Amino acid sequence: MTDTNPEITAGATPDEQSATAAVNPGSTVSLCIMSGKGGVGKTNLSLNLGLVLRDMGHKLLLMDCDLGLANLDVLLGLTPEKNMQDLLSGDVRPEDVLLHVEEGLDILPAASGVPELVEMDQNQRDELFETLTDMIKGYEFLLLDLGAGISGTVLALARMAQMRVVLVTPEPTSLTDGYAIIKVLNAKYGVRDFCVVVNQATAKEASETFQRLNMACKTFLGFDLVNLGHVRLDRTLTQAVIDQTPLARFAPECPAIKDIRVIAQRVSSYRKQNMETISGRKALKEFLPTATSRNP
Ligand SMILES: Nc1ncnc2c1ncn2[C@@H]1O[C@H](COP(=O)(O)OP(=O)(O)OP(=O)(O)O)[C@@H](O)[C@H]1O
Ligand SMILES: [Mg+2]
Repeated sequence: MTDTNPEITAGATPDEQSATAAVNPGSTVSLCIMSGKGGVGKTNLSLNLGLVLRDMGHKLLLMDCDLGLANLDVLLGLTPEKNMQDLLSGDVRPEDVLLHVEEGLDILPAASGVPELVEMDQNQRDELFETLTDMIKGYEFLLLDLGAGISGTVLALARMAQMRVVLVTPEPTSLTDGYAIIKVLNAKYGVRDFCVVVNQATAKEASETFQRLNMACKTFLGFDLVNLGHVRLDRTLTQAVIDQTPLARFAPECPAIKDIRVIAQRVSSYRKQNMETISGRKALKEFLPTATSRNP
């Protein structure tokens, strides 16, 4: 693995792989963006990565999984009438909740200020899982913008995605919190495949940050991370946030969007290169009950 040529494996166990059985006929790739520390840029990366992938011709569903403090809709200047909570309470149909942002990009908004959703119980998670599995048919990507930290819901959603992107900044606190979330997912569920994006960093800072995090994982957990790329610190983003316009539309040629295009290219290549494996495994894995959780 090098900084510039990440190899992303499909991450499926042999029993999940089957070249003949297309359990995921649309070859939907689920990708979550998470961080230990809050405010590192997850929501902005999710939204702009979604828009860039959409511009490349992909069909996506972007899900706001920050179930306590939703803000994808705020970045878009939208006020959704219905949200995830309505969906989970069974009052509405999934298609009534989806926000059609642009051709090829839909958003599933979360409920803001609903603390009980942050700690959903197993039944609620199973329900969410079933609803999502139905909803994502027809999409090439499901992007999950997770809340910060290691709540039960964050861990469950991170566990079920095919690709996990840990977003860090060069700040030591972000790095230690990023390592903590990787460690917990590894210890509780045996997850070993993680991608990393370093945000608000120069190429040199990003490379050093990735090496540091990778070294910790290699030494203490026994596996390497995939370097998916970095995004430069770009003040245009602040203006875009104030304008409630996604950066990819506000300033499509700014440095941060150029960097996100590189990341999108890698994510898109991953889907193309692993099409057969992806179609042979479920887009979302079932949550493991606590009893079957294992230590590595
Ligand atoms: N590449 C960047 N360049 C400059 N500023 C950035 C960059 N990425 C993020 N920011 C700043 O960080 C702020 C927080 O970003 P964002 O809301 O996406 O973080 P988050 O990780 O989703 O936060 P939370 O953990 O609260 O959900 C942005 O409003 C912006 O000011
Ligand atoms: Mg966020």
